[in-house]
This record gives sequence, structure tokens and C-alpha cells, in this order.
Amino acid sequence: MCGIVGYVGKRDCTDVLMNGLSKLEYRGYDSAGIAVFQNGKIEVAKAKGRLKNLEEHMKAEGRPTGQIGIGHTRWATHGEPSDVNSHPHSGGRVTIVHNGIIENYKELKDYLISRGVSFDSDTDTEVVARLLDYRYNGSPIQTISETIRDLEGSYALGIIFADHPEQVYAVRCESPLIAGVGDGENFIASDVPAILEYTRDYYLLEHEEIAVLGRDGVHIFDAYGQPVEKELKTADWDVEAIRKNGYVHFMLKEIHEQPTAIRTTISPRIQNGLPNLEECGITLEVLRGFRQIHVVACGTAMHAGTVGKYVIEKLARVPVTVDIASEFRYCDPLVGTGDLVIVISQSGETADSLAAMRLAKSLGAKTLAIVNAMGSSIAREADMLIYTHAGPEIAVASTKAYMVQIAVMYLFAFELALAVGQIDETECRRLVTLLEQTPDSIAEILERKEQVQYIASSLITADSLLYIGRGLDYALSMEGSLKLKEISYIHSESYAAGELKHGTISLITENMPVIAVATQTALREKTISNIKEVKARGARVILVCRASDTIDPEAVDLRYDLPDFDDLLMPMIAVVPLQLIAYYTSVLKGNDVDKPRNLAKSVTVE
Ligand code: G6P
Repeated sequence: MCGIVGYVGKRDCTDVLMNGLSKLEYRGYDSAGIAVFQNGKIEVAKAKGRLKNLEEHMKAEGRPTGQIGIGHTRWATHGEPSDVNSHPHSGGRVTIVHNGIIENYKELKDYLISRGVSFDSDTDTEVVARLLDYRYNGSPIQTISETIRDLEGSYALGIIFADHPEQVYAVRCESPLIAGVGDGENFIASDVPAILEYTRDYYLLEHEEIAVLGRDGVHIFDAYGQPVEKELKTADWDVEAIRKNGYVHFMLKEIHEQPTAIRTTISPRIQNGLPNLEECGITLEVLRGFRQIHVVACGTAMHAGTVGKYVIEKLARVPVTVDIASEFRYCDPLVGTGDLVIVISQSGETADSLAAMRLAKSLGAKTLAIVNAMGSSIAREADMLIYTHAGPEIAVASTKAYMVQIAVMYLFAFELALAVGQIDETECRRLVTLLEQTPDSIAEILERKEQVQYIASSLITADSLLYIGRGLDYALSMEGSLKLKEISYIHSESYAAGELKHGTISLITENMPVIAVATQTALREKTISNIKEVKARGARVILVCRASDTIDPEAVDLRYDLPDFDDLLMPMIAVVPLQLIAYYTSVLKGNDVDKPRNLAKSVTVE
């Protein structure tokens, strides 16, 4: 959470920083700020709220002008969102921006106060700025190197020293940070999109590495100040991927990108009609060695894992547990040698997922990461790795990343089922062909949005609603419910349809709409019975089912008609109207769809 940028070059630094921050706002948007060397002096501008507030603030109060500086967009951890708690923070001669949490900031603060240092803000970040200043001996690298030895927690820092107006310094521990390399200009950023308009070349900073950026280049040192040689990486993302390209919101654009994202993700992993995950380190022999699978993830990624559990258990008959990473890491999990732990993460940087993966490794399990962000920590540390190729996902509410996560879970389940002899090659080919057909059905849904718009318009006055389903429909409902909650701010829960009567049905009134998903043929009549139970208690029922299904019209108020598709792969099709219902409900409520309140896309704190 929090996005940081830094620039050294010949362009107007404020423009570059603001542009970079606009690409990182998905990481947090409680406040924003920049610090720029103007005529050799550090000028700071910051404002509570979105980046546009900072723009307005600078219009009124003056815009720093210069060619070297740092910037920040914040997701508040220590200290409420306010002007004074906004970054950059200055500690005298040192000004910094920070992403992460300094866990021992209180002790450090007490120590500095005892030495006569005073503070302006409530943040842990100011403690680092003041500590750097307290230690500063004229050598930035030595000061940074000594200071980080005292820091506990996670951080990516962009640092400028008042007496070094030609350089930007950076260091990281856990929180992601790259150093972009241009021609006569160089950058730091929390993520590639922030620099993509200027350069594709970058260094991925490792744990406790210190970067020094000047116009002449980027120099990297280890934690003890010794120079380090690093491989220059090249981003293969298209600049267009980080623009809205005519769509009103990134979320809508990303929903539309799903058919392409599926094809790009699965095509390289299919050979002669069968899954082939060898380049990811997964062979039939490897797959035969696992007695049990655990999926560990957070948020939407965990929901993708839940779909995976149903599919793997059904096809391969290998037991799968799904855990929320923040629970898994502290529950003394029953994991060990012979187990496979699959960690799913769009960003590859989610603190709890990363910690859960490290724990699983330490317990002797093999780890497989399913990750979207190239070179991210989870991707680098896993034993086996399947990259999803969704491209950058900018909207905070995840859509295309979820889609490709489940596409990979299907491919993995097919190969595992083949490996353990639960299906033969003919069946595996049939399933792969179906998976390859999903993009066409999704594209069909994207052609007609009137039905979902109408459903969304019927939801905007609701205070609360329920999603119900059974089996894979239940797994899918979890994601539909989360999507609605995240961006429409309407409370919703997903429930296993058969469980409703054991308590939650008492909530049903005419003011609580119920969205029922019934795509699983064997369970459809059971779900319809549950629908009738809620209908009888006054609920307004919206049913998502196949167009070809004959359903008693008395049992439902509104229907969303899906194209016909195989039951097993239906979640990939049926999630699209659920995403669109959440999207249009949010739009109709006038919410900020791409940046819902209180959320951040990449959660690098516990
Ligand atoms: C945050 C995001 C969610 C995301 C979750 C896990 O909470 O707002 O959309 O699903 O983190 O993120 P990851 O990057 O690990 O998939």
C-alpha cells in the first residue's frame, strides 16, 4: 500500500511525479504529496485526499518547479488521513516518502524524543526521516545503511538530502521498489506502470539494497554500502494497458479485457490439446507426489482458490483446503512434507500471503505461486510458479486477475487429474477445449449489458443483500458478493443456499434482495427450493441461470440469462454478470468505481 515515485532528469519533475502517482493511486489515495528541489531548496506540496486535491492545492499555493524530487500517494496506517500526516515527511536535512510499516517506530520515537528531537505528525514515517537526520554525517549511503539496521517492519523509502540536490536515494525491505533507467533520467517507483511512459528498463531492488539515482545513472549498493551488479530488466507491458482507452473506468476496461487475458494466459500452457506446465516446474511426476493441497490467499485471490478447490477435488480427487492467508499463518497449520501449498496473488506482494508461503516452505511443503506481477516477491520465492498474463490491473476491485487465476486453477486441475489417473487424455482434451471456448462465451455476455444494468438499477436502494448458491455457484457467489460490497458500499454476504435456513433466513424481508446463482445442473432444483423459501418470506429474488432453464416465473423477480456452457467451467462465464452488476450499481450510486473508499489494491502490511 502507498505508492512512491522519484525522478532525476531534465523534465519538469512535478509533471513526472504527478503522472507517476496517477498510475499508483490504486495503492492508496488517502493523501498525496511531492518534494522537489527548486533552485537547490526542497519545496514540499501535500494535500489530504485524491491526487486532484494536490493539483488544486498546487494551483492555489504554487507548484514546485525543478528536475529532481520524490512523490507519494498514501493508504493510511499510522495516523489518520490528514494534511499533516501526508508524505513527504521531513526530518530537518532529510525528506522521505515511505511505503510500509515501521513496527518499532514507537521505541525509535521515544529514543529520539529523549535526545531532544521533536515531531510534527503521528506517522511512523516521520520517525524514519528524523532518525536519518539525527544520524546524518554527510554521507547519504552510510547514513541509510546504518539507519536501516535499526528499522523493523517493511519499507520502501524514497529519500532526498538537502545538501545533495542532484540525487534521489532509495532503499527497500519487503515493500516493492524498482529503479527505472532512462536516457539522462532515472526513476524510482513502487510499480512499473508509474515509469512505463518514460522507460521500460528497470532494476528490481532486493532486500535492503540502496539505490542512488543521478542523471548519469543508477548505482546500487548492498546494506553495507558495497556496490552491487544487477541485471537490467525490461517490462513487456504495453503503455496502452495503463490507459483507459475510451472506457469510463479501468474496471470496465478490465472486465472487457478478460477474453484476451484468458487466451494469453492459457495458450502457452497448452500443447497438443493437453495442459503443459513444464516451464513452470510442474510435470506429471511432480504432481503425482502430493497427498494434499492447501490454497492460501487473500480477498479475490482466495475466492479463485475456492473455485479451484471444487474443481480439483471433483476431477482429481485430491483433498484441498482453502485458507485465508492471515489465518493460515497464525493457526499452526497442519502442513508438511508431501503437501503442496498454492499461493494465489495478483500483486505477488500481499504481506500475509507472502508470510504464509514462507511458513509453508519452512514446514517442508512445496509451494506453487500463481501470480500476475512479474518479479514480485511471491513469484521469486515460490518453488514453482505460474504467471497469469492479465497485464496490469489498475482498478482496485479485481476482475481480470480473478478470471485468469481461475483459468490457471482449471488447467492445473486438468493436469493433476490426468497425472493421478482420474481422467484419461481424451477427457482431458475435452476439458481443455472447453476452457479454450470460454473467451467466446464471455465476449457474448459483454455484448449485451442491458439486463445487468436493469438489475443494478433495482439494487441501488438496498441496504443489504444476500448471494446464494450451491457448490461451484456458492464459490462464485463469494466473489460476486465481495465485488458488490467493495465498490457499491452495499452490505452483502454470500451463503451456501442450503445453509440459509439455519439462521440467516431470519434477516430476509422485502428490503433484502437475494441474488441466487444456479448454474450447476445437479443442484439446480435444490437451489430453486431455497429460492422459494426466501421468496415466501418476501425477498426480491434475482436469479442468474442459463437462458435455456425453465424456471417457475413465480419464484423469481428478475433473471439474468447466461449462455449455455459446461457446468464445471460455468464460474468463468457466470462471474461476468456478477462483476457487471457490481460495476453498474457503483456507477449508479455515483461512487468512485476504480478507487473505492478505504481500500488499496496491494496490501503490503499485515
Ligand atoms: C486487496 C485487494 C483485493 C485483493 C487482495 C489480495 O485486498 O483490494 O482486490 O484480492 O488484496 O491481493 P493479491 O494481490 O494478493 O491478489
